[in-house]
Amino acid sequence: MSKLGIEGAHPGGINLTKEIFKREDINRNSHILDVGCGTGQTAAYIAYRYGAKVTGIDINPTMVAKAKMRMKKNQLPVTIMQCLVEEIPLPDNHFDFIASESVLAFVNKPMALKEIFRLLKSGGRFIAIEQTINGRLKENEENEIKQFYGFDSLSTEKDWVALLQQAGFDRIRIEENTSIESVPDIPDANELEAELYEIMDKHSDMMTRYKEILGYRIYSCTK
Ligand SMILES: C[S@@+](CC[C@H](N)C(=O)[O-])C[C@H]1O[C@@H](n2cnc3c(N)ncnc32)[C@H](O)[C@@H]1O
Repeated sequence: MSKLGIEGAHPGGINLTKEIFKREDINRNSHILDVGCGTGQTAAYIAYRYGAKVTGIDINPTMVAKAKMRMKKNQLPVTIMQCLVEEIPLPDNHFDFIASESVLAFVNKPMALKEIFRLLKSGGRFIAIEQTINGRLKENEENEIKQFYGFDSLSTEKDWVALLQQAGFDRIRIEENTSIESVPDIPDANELEAELYEIMDKHSDMMTRYKEILGYRIYSCTK
């Protein structure tokens, strides 16, 4: 993602993010955390649109540098930190909202969800756009997908609900977005290095072969 210079990298893109946040009760006093913030597109949008107090964390140093640069360039008072979502050095019960957009599939989900729960205030909201499989796969297919994308595990809707409940979340709502599509800003094939071209090629192949299985859902729940 950082090599390709992609700004935002979750299904539905920034337009889906805007729709989801519109429904929440966010104002300038809200404390919001974006876990796995990438280049900071969502964090910047929320800070700009709502004047909220926003923090973004990510483990990748290139992403962190790009996110910091974005905030500086746009003069946005967003705090960007480099750390693991499984271990965030911030106090308990601190945030009104935590967002996770295409991040938890890559990490240890129970550990990350425990950390997100700890950081949320009582009554705080967790909003996630996360990779979800639409059915079970054969072991070799599952391994191929996990290996190529670097996913820690593949979860169905039912698995996600169980994970969220185990972490302590309540009022779990699940949505399948069918109207908003993301159009990633990917460079022209002939501008890509050979290695990146192969990766994009394999990605298209996987998307074609597993199009019925690889999906995503919007999860929202309350502490
Ligand atoms: C697919 S990108 C999504 C980025 C951003 N949320 C967006 O929608 O554009 C996944 C992000 O998660 C970050 N990430 C992966 N594992 C992580 C971890 N254990 N802790 C924190 N960030 C992590 C990656 O560095 C990357 O920026």
